[in-house]
Amino acid sequence: MDKLVIEGGVPLQGEVTVSGAKNAALPIICAALLAETPLRLTSVPALRDVGTTYHLLEHMGVQVSKEGQNAVTLDASQITSHEAPYEMVKTMRASILVLGPLLARFGHARVSLPGGCAIGSRPVDLHIKGLKAMGAEIHIEHGYIEASTAHLPNKRLQGARIFMDLVTVTGTENLMMAAALAEGTTVLENAAREPEVVDMAECLIKMGARIEGVGTDVITVHGVERLKGTEHAIICDRIEAGTYMVAAAMSGGKVKLRNARADLLDAVIEKLREAGAHVEHDSDSITVTGNGRLKSVNIRTAPHPAFPTDMQAQFMALNTVADGAGHVVETIFENRFMHVQEMQRLGADIHVEGNTAIVRGVDHLDGATVMATDLRASASLVLAALVARGETTIERIYHLDRGYEKLEEKLTALGAKVRRVH
Ligand code: UD1
Repeated sequence: MDKLVIEGGVPLQGEVTVSGAKNAALPIICAALLAETPLRLTSVPALRDVGTTYHLLEHMGVQVSKEGQNAVTLDASQITSHEAPYEMVKTMRASILVLGPLLARFGHARVSLPGGCAIGSRPVDLHIKGLKAMGAEIHIEHGYIEASTAHLPNKRLQGARIFMDLVTVTGTENLMMAAALAEGTTVLENAAREPEVVDMAECLIKMGARIEGVGTDVITVHGVERLKGTEHAIICDRIEAGTYMVAAAMSGGKVKLRNARADLLDAVIEKLREAGAHVEHDSDSITVTGNGRLKSVNIRTAPHPAFPTDMQAQFMALNTVADGAGHVVETIFENRFMHVQEMQRLGADIHVEGNTAIVRGVDHLDGATVMATDLRASASLVLAALVARGETTIERIYHLDRGYEKLEEKLTALGAKVRRVH
């Protein structure tokens, strides 16, 4: 298994181009299942999760034609299977995103239950509840979600009012895709407002869907009979951008991010400024300049536009070497502090109580061998390693390959001393 070896202490300098967003690419690739003609996507990040989604769709008969590293055409005109098998779903929870489109277009879907994952139990009950409200018959059998519309008028899902008692990103996306081909109007209440949900909705609208209220917490979808392919460029990855922004600030360097949108990163920018970093931006770039020792900040994760859970671990890393103590409260996932033990191996002073971590900044971290446990936890270890004294080896970096395109290349271009060991 690959490892990353990082020699800390270099202030990052230069420019980096942000890739397309993983969390927009995955649902939009699945949305290809809704279209009767090919969907062409550009700015698709070359990531392991994207490859897994292509495999999953190919398994169903979708023709996947890649052009270079970041463009693809997906042709779902000849589907041969409505099944997402366990072997694929277990490697990537986002596979659940095929459930809504398969059921809406073909009236049948068989999707493995995702099971537990490293950052908590993460059930999919709200996805299932929403589809049932649209009339689907759903049973859980042998670990699979079996869903059918055979008993419904014209075998189509029926528009419904769906209230979700928790804000769920993929749940909102799944139900929006299902509602796009349903009969009648669906109203999704307490819907997710994440920019990736908006990007997917914009792609669906180009495909012929009728959707209102995108970016608000009430989304109305007027079902149509068929959707067609279109061309769509995936929105930039605000979490990748945020990670490089924290790297610039922590290392005391200056980094300009291209293809980055400050309007998607309000909460992150505010916290970086509170920590003492300089942040400037124009319409498609952001520049972050470190400013001596940063100050600790308090973080509380919540659905967009509040502070994103996918940036929690990175700000924990920032606090480990900042001046003073900061509270980090995780309200979205119940088990998302696995990076704490690994940061402690580097000398961090962190005390966890329930969903709160109290981080007291130390004078410096010392390099050590640590283990990546999930995607964003791994990113936080990279950040800690970039400022630690000496060498840090990060094991199990396949997690990083799920979500950060060309990580070593990008960091190396900014002057970091990073190498991958096979
Ligand atoms: C998505 C993102 C992930 C991000 C998360 C929260 C993708 C591919 N992944 O994950 O990077 O960390 O949003 O911003 O977009 N829940 C239920 N029942 C459900 C669905 C969710 O109880 O049916 C709970 C979850 O356990 C969690 C919370 O709701 O506590 C939010 O989860 P959700 O927004 O669904 O996360 P994902 O969509 O899986």
